[in-house]
Amino acid sequence: MNIQIINGPNLNLLGVREKSIYGNTDFESYLTDLKQHYTDINITYYQSNVEGEIINKLHEVGFTYDGIVLNAGAYTHTSIAIADAIAAINTPVIEVHISNVHKREEFRHKSMLAASCRGVIAGFGLHSYRLGVESFLLK
Ligand code: DQA
Repeated sequence: MNIQIINGPNLNLLGVREKSIYGNTDFESYLTDLKQHYTDINITYYQSNVEGEIINKLHEVGFTYDGIVLNAGAYTHTSIAIADAIAAINTPVIEVHISNVHKREEFRHKSMLAASCRGVIAGFGLHSYRLGVESFLLK
């Protein structure tokens, strides 16, 4: 099974950025643990701060991979272009968030992407990604 994790803007700063919200762990360390947990799954990782690059990655993997776990960061709340890309591809996408966006500012309550995704996971810290991967193992 091939699963692509995609992180959007500012998520390259996990472990540095707003630690009280996003925690102390950088994503690469978390990813190492995640890969060790799922040795049977090929988990690949991509991060970009650029909207079009996230779209290009969705196009690249979205016709061959089994699943995509996407944290589009703030683009979640703004990007019709990413929503269209999710709708255009065949691979199911799970929208994930580290924080519980519904507990936060009102502008984070609205997702432009959720309606095009298979499901949404929010509020479990970095384990939101693991729950996203796990969802592709459900039968
Ligand atoms: C986030 C929530 C977004 O509102 C925010 O812009 C992010 C991170 C999360 O993982 O909690 O960059 O997607």
